[in-house]
Amino acid sequence: MNLLNEIQRRRTFGIISHPDAGKTTLTEKLLLFGGAIQTAGAVKSNKITKTAASDFMEIERQRGISVATSVMVFEYQGKQINLLDTPGHKDFAEDTYRTLTAVDSVILVIDSVKGVETQTERLMEVCRMRDTPVIVFINKMDLEGRDPFDLLDELEAKLSIKVQPMSWPISKGYSFKGVYKIYDKAINLFEASKTKRAEEVVQINDLSDPLLDELIGEYADELRSEAELVETVYDTFDVEKYRAGKLAPVFFGSAMNNFGVKELLDKFVEIAPTPQPRETNVRTVRPEEEKFTGFVFKIHANIDPRHRDRIAFLRVCSGHFERNTFYHHTRLNKDFKYPNPVTFLAQAKSTVDEAYPGDVIGLYDTGNFKIGDSITEGENMQFKGIPSFSPEIFKELVNRDPMKTKQLDKGIRQLTEEGVAQVFFQEPGSRKIVGTVGDLQFEVIKYRLENEYGAKCDFEPKAYYKACWITSADAMKLSEFKRIKGNNMVVDKEGNDVFLAPSKFMLDLERQNYPELEFHFTSEFMVAS
Ligand code: G4P
Repeated sequence: MNLLNEIQRRRTFGIISHPDAGKTTLTEKLLLFGGAIQTAGAVKSNKITKTAASDFMEIERQRGISVATSVMVFEYQGKQINLLDTPGHKDFAEDTYRTLTAVDSVILVIDSVKGVETQTERLMEVCRMRDTPVIVFINKMDLEGRDPFDLLDELEAKLSIKVQPMSWPISKGYSFKGVYKIYDKAINLFEASKTKRAEEVVQINDLSDPLLDELIGEYADELRSEAELVETVYDTFDVEKYRAGKLAPVFFGSAMNNFGVKELLDKFVEIAPTPQPRETNVRTVRPEEEKFTGFVFKIHANIDPRHRDRIAFLRVCSGHFERNTFYHHTRLNKDFKYPNPVTFLAQAKSTVDEAYPGDVIGLYDTGNFKIGDSITEGENMQFKGIPSFSPEIFKELVNRDPMKTKQLDKGIRQLTEEGVAQVFFQEPGSRKIVGTVGDLQFEVIKYRLENEYGAKCDFEPKAYYKACWITSADAMKLSEFKRIKGNNMVVDKEGNDVFLAPSKFMLDLERQNYPELEFHFTSEFMVAS
């Protein structure tokens, strides 16, 4: 099959939500529609439960599940859908941010009772950075949720994006009757059911049709006036604005009851973008280019502790990837071939012979890959947009077994390459400060250092607010800053200068005092243009 057809067939996306909004449930229903699983309940939640911080076996088990469900591939209406899983637990948010660099669009799930929550806002900030197209699914309409107009206002205000309802809920909670599909002029009647696949849709050519009163009784007039209001408040849907990441179409439904999911999926395959061009430090790479390129956005240690190998997840950006072919690793300036690349069909891993733009393949790795590495057919370039973000929790790594110093160093280097955390070094004495976005990571690191590398460590909390990468065209000012702020200056693994700001106040003050310096909150600046 030719490359263009393969590109046109593919939709690569991720589902994001604040934990508990219904991401796992929606994923499962989408897989049911795609025929990738046969029964509800087959997708195990990849959530790391609240008790897991003290239950390491649980973390290990969960890591296994999250490899298996990292990429779910299914067919729907002749399209190949690649659904990239994102961890639900907030402590693994950075993993989610990076996965978002490998998708072409997202579906954002909002809990109708809770509205926009903190994690939703942060995830959307990451989508905004790349203008990723977003479809919103307002879930749990079977509960007594918030007023739909309020929810839409909140989405616009907190997520800085225009929204456009595609369907409108008819009441909610106990009296939830279904949704009015604004553009199809049809009523989709709600019936609570966890197993049903088809939905009962009644065509209404005009909202004044008395059939509406028959169908939804006392709620008919309410719908008529709300629909009128929707029409005056919101413009008509513009697919180009959606694809530019400026307008988010909104659906209402209940994932648990499988309600509103099919219309979401139908619209998704109709409007969601095909694999998109990607920026590198030298040029834009278009998916239809014949030569293969791709980048690594995630590295997962193999779950079998007897083998140290890891799986690097690579997003294909252009051309045609073939098994057992030599490709160029641009950072190492070396060629490697991959005899056993894997693809992820629902939960089973299987060897793949070829892959196309939009696909994600798993490459077995013995330590050659870092997140952000680019692979080409020889061209020297690096894909942009796979930054490290400033960590939020900082702790100093304390070696508890001097006999195992080498193992500790190797372990922390490899774990940070996997993206579990970031490590910063401070001279003199090679102090190591580990930064993460969540406390759970420290438990994971400690456990894995001990179990996989035989090293023992402790962590001492450090009260830093943020890590900022510092650059300046003014070398004198930069060295003055580094000298004065010596106690708070560290370097990252690449040797870049990083300032550990003690508080927001101090950070703001330094930025005022040193206008010659640039303070970067992600490592993106390192990919030179
Ligand atoms: P997450 O992955 O975003 O964290 O959320 P998940 O799908 O696990 O859903 C969180 C909880 O919300 C689950 O309940 C799930 O059943 C429930 N839920 C999902 N969709 C709906 C919906 O449309 N309506 C209602 N009322 N609830 C919904 P749980 O009690 O935590 O787990 P479970 O025992 O039901 O699996």
